[in-house]
Amino acid sequence: MNKLALITGASSGIGRATALRLAKEGYNIIVTGRRNDRLESLQSEIKSYYDVKVFTAQFDIQQKEAVQEFVNFLTGEWRDVDVLVNNAGLALGKESFQNGNLRDWDIMIDTNVKGMMYISKLISEIMVTRGQGHIVNITSTASTQVYKDGGIYCASKHAALAMSKSMRIDLLPHGIKVSSISPGAVETEFSTVRFKGDIIKAKDVYNGYTPLYANDIADMIAYVVNQPIHVNINDIEVTCLAQANAYYFNKNK
Ligand SMILES: NC(=O)c1ccc[n+]([C@@H]2O[C@H](COP(=O)([O-])OP(=O)(O)OC[C@H]3O[C@@H](n4cnc5c(N)ncnc54)[C@H](OP(=O)(O)O)[C@@H]3O)[C@@H](O)[C@H]2O)c1
Repeated sequence: MNKLALITGASSGIGRATALRLAKEGYNIIVTGRRNDRLESLQSEIKSYYDVKVFTAQFDIQQKEAVQEFVNFLTGEWRDVDVLVNNAGLALGKESFQNGNLRDWDIMIDTNVKGMMYISKLISEIMVTRGQGHIVNITSTASTQVYKDGGIYCASKHAALAMSKSMRIDLLPHGIKVSSISPGAVETEFSTVRFKGDIIKAKDVYNGYTPLYANDIADMIAYVVNQPIHVNINDIEVTCLAQANAYYFNKNK
């Protein structure tokens, strides 16, 4: 029987690549996000390549009630989630603390921290009942280090990593694995979102070096979830060759 993976934030970037990668491994897939057209085209793409089932769910992970409604809607074979990839997330803006935008800050906390909190609680309840499961949290190099003008994004990712580590302890007696993957710079729509559609600024983030790509992280997620049952990979930090940590890059001049 196929296993089931639920991937949040699968309408682009790392989540999208992960959905395709885990489908290749034979997982049935649930993909979530706000942009339904993207989810539906991903569903068609997966089905055209792989003989797996795909379910799409459009909701805003910041909305507690919407997350609850989504999980309530999962019945039968769609409820037995084997792998939850907590990937939905974003950075908004890059300003000094004193010049930060409170609306942006709320959205980052509501998505990266509270969204992850809502869905993880509900899915972990199901996993506890089944006595199995694996939660993979996509954190960031910003979950252990802070960089200039990234204050609240870094704070949100620090919280996400702390949540991941605490889940691992509480879910330990129930045989549920919890892993975190902390990427450095990955070329996705992340910077376009951060700079609110300013493509020039977004492209500049990846200029002068070869960044990670979404498939690199998807491969890593596949590696983490494919370990033997007795093995858990706790925390991975991964950067491209040109990046040492959250702030040191070796860029071509
Ligand atoms: N790219 C990087 O350099 C990098 C580095 C470290 C960590 N990360 C983390 O990796 C994760 C994925 O980012 P990415 O690089 O793949 O960026 P991306 O291409 O912008 O993808 C972000 C995904 O999150 C979803 N999302 C955002 N807000 C949401 C909301 N309120 N409700 C539901 N879904 C929401 C988006 O879907 P919709 O817009 O359709 O809702 C989209 O599918 C994030 O948690 C990010 O913080 C990225």
